[in-house]
Amino acid sequence: MNTVNILAISGSLRGQSLNSTLLRAVISMIPSQETVVNYSEMAQLPHFNPDLDIDDADTAVANWRRLLKEANGVLICTPEYAKGVPGSLKNALDWVVSSGEFVSKPVAVISASPHPDGGSTANNSLLGTLAMMSASVVEGGTLTVPFINQKLGSNEEIIDSELRLNIENLLNALFQEINNNVVS
Ligand SMILES: Cc1cc2nc3c(=O)[nH]c(=O)nc-3n(C[C@H](O)[C@H](O)[C@H](O)COP(=O)(O)O)c2cc1C
Repeated sequence: MNTVNILAISGSLRGQSLNSTLLRAVISMIPSQETVVNYSEMAQLPHFNPDLDIDDADTAVANWRRLLKEANGVLICTPEYAKGVPGSLKNALDWVVSSGEFVSKPVAVISASPHPDGGSTANNSLLGTLAMMSASVVEGGTLTVPFINQKLGSNEEIIDSELRLNIENLLNALFQEINNNVVS
């Protein structure tokens, strides 16, 4: 069976980001025979400008597009900023609206927040953007995580059993969709 290639994206640039920590914990739950690239160049992307949205775009943009193109599936874990998607993540997504790397791409979306609603407004907004880009957000592949500050241990492990189960289900849904795509 072919190795699955996942691109993992944190919506936070913060060094001690809870979302980036959760994303690493989620990646550690993915079977080791699969390939996971944890995207680390979001801060290098220039501000989106349609005048610069061309085939031989800036190097960071070209890398971002290539990583997305090579991925069989995408896993996003993001905070909510001011009831929306963080600007850095939205900027990254704007760079691939016209180039189309998200079209039909299986995607799972997690939003995590220390606050009680788990960043649900950002999560919904992100789903709207992904739908506009014709991404294939998988059934069972969305999760909002409230009180994330209480659910991660000192070794970056998920210490909340319900969250762990929810993540397992989300990963199963993502991999099932990817495998369906590979077979069909
Ligand atoms: C500018 C700013 C705006 C924020 N707005 C929200 C918000 O609308 N909803 C929310 O749940 N948390 C909000 N927060 C709190 C974040 O959820 C919290 O800081 C979280 O830890 C950020 O994610 P990170 O740890 O992955 O960087 C905001 C934080 C910042 C810095």
